[in-house]
Amino acid sequence: MLLSPSSTIANTSAGTNPTSPPDSSYSNLTHRRNSTVLNPRSYVTPELWTQAPILKGTTKFEPLTDTRNIMVTGGAGFIACWFVRHLTLTYPNDYNVVSFDKLDYCATLNNTRMLEKCSNFAFEHGDITSPNDVKRCLRKHKIDTIFHFAAQSHVDLSFGNSYQFTNTNVYGTHVLLERARAHGIKRFIHISTDEVYGDVPDNADDLSETSLLAPTNPYSASKAAAEMMVNAYRKSFKLPVITVRSNNVYGPHQFPEKIIPKFVLLLQRQSKLLVHGDGTPTRRYLYAGDIVDALDTILHKGVIGQIYNIASKDEISNIDICHKLLGMFGLLHSTPKAFNKWVEHTEDRPFNDHRYATDGTKLAVLGWQQRTSFDDGIRTTVDWYRRFGEVWWGDISRILTPFPVVEGNEIWTKEEHEALPSDNELGVEENNTVWTKKALNNLQASGGTV
Ligand SMILES: NC(=O)c1ccc[n+]([C@@H]2O[C@H](COP(=O)([O-])OP(=O)(O)OC[C@H]3O[C@@H](n4cnc5c(N)ncnc54)[C@H](O)[C@@H]3O)[C@@H](O)[C@H]2O)c1
Repeated sequence: MLLSPSSTIANTSAGTNPTSPPDSSYSNLTHRRNSTVLNPRSYVTPELWTQAPILKGTTKFEPLTDTRNIMVTGGAGFIACWFVRHLTLTYPNDYNVVSFDKLDYCATLNNTRMLEKCSNFAFEHGDITSPNDVKRCLRKHKIDTIFHFAAQSHVDLSFGNSYQFTNTNVYGTHVLLERARAHGIKRFIHISTDEVYGDVPDNADDLSETSLLAPTNPYSASKAAAEMMVNAYRKSFKLPVITVRSNNVYGPHQFPEKIIPKFVLLLQRQSKLLVHGDGTPTRRYLYAGDIVDALDTILHKGVIGQIYNIASKDEISNIDICHKLLGMFGLLHSTPKAFNKWVEHTEDRPFNDHRYATDGTKLAVLGWQQRTSFDDGIRTTVDWYRRFGEVWWGDISRILTPFPVVEGNEIWTKEEHEALPSDNELGVEENNTVWTKKALNNLQASGGTV
């Protein structure tokens, strides 16, 4: 049976060392089955979620009278799972919350399992790029409000598999908007990013919501394009939209492809931190609990048709994140020699914005302010990952390698992916193992059997 390489690989064994040689008794043959497929529905460890703290925001407002059923796209992912927990638990008698998620490689139902007994919570498996899935959910739950988080969110991956970013982030947003319009939604809150503004020079002023959009990578370009579509629906169809542009967010529940959880888990494994380029780019970081409070504020006090930056005061370089984490793990880092024992520089991204800088005055007027300092937030985050990081999603070994490759739900190391058969060298599946045609021919010519 002939299969394309990407559809055949299914090695999910926990604890696999991604860099170990392929398991083959024939040294001249290439085994093509290495990859990880995480299962977002899996508990991974029984009762795991019952041991984790239930994390949410701190705000509570007078409930809106015209809002009852809220659909949250991407609800099994990082930021949205915080928001789903917050809304469900803070407004149990006021809002019904529907988490709508396709359960991509980075999602896990562990993020919302603690809500399964709540009568105002439901999970709907669905894809925002499917008009039928979206329509079904809107009708079934009589949705009046949409918070749209679902996205391909990892900049690094957008340099390799950018079609997926356009498909999910632009087309998926378009589908949601169109369905929301046809359904007659009352509020559509679109979650965008500070990256749509592009790079901001060191001494430049912080950017307000009226600044030009100038994205520089396929991820940020897809988010900016999605915003254009949101704005078009606002103008053309009077869709009641609010757009939100947040700085980087960190905290428990973030998939460990992103820098902070990845570095925490590497240090826990006593492995070196792999820093892109010279590590001088900075980002402003906001604790997940704080963005949830900001979104709660925008839901209850935000003005339809407006754009709000959610801005943090904490601007930190990648190198400073290394110093901070090494200190927290009790590892020497003050001299270059001690630091370099734990930090290795890899090639940089094809393009790496030096910094983003946004002004949050408009949201402050609505009453929101950042509550969690980076020092406090990072402490909570490190504690959580030390307890749950290795077991929350399944085997994350390949994600912790320098440039993992993700296709659909499959994850490879860069080297493994480069060794896969090309499209014109299709794999041959025999006895649950995928061989290149050449390798199988060699094996059979030498009298071996699979
Ligand atoms: N993480 C950050 O630092 C940050 C900063 C600013 C803005 N944002 C934005 O916030 C949103 C959430 O980011 P995150 O980091 O929590 O993302 P994430 O990658 O952790 O989660 C994304 C979720 O969307 C789901 N999803 C992906 N494609 C889907 C589809 N076609 N249909 C339905 N569900 C789908 C995934 O399964 C996953 O659960 C994104 O829109 C992102 O652009 C993130």
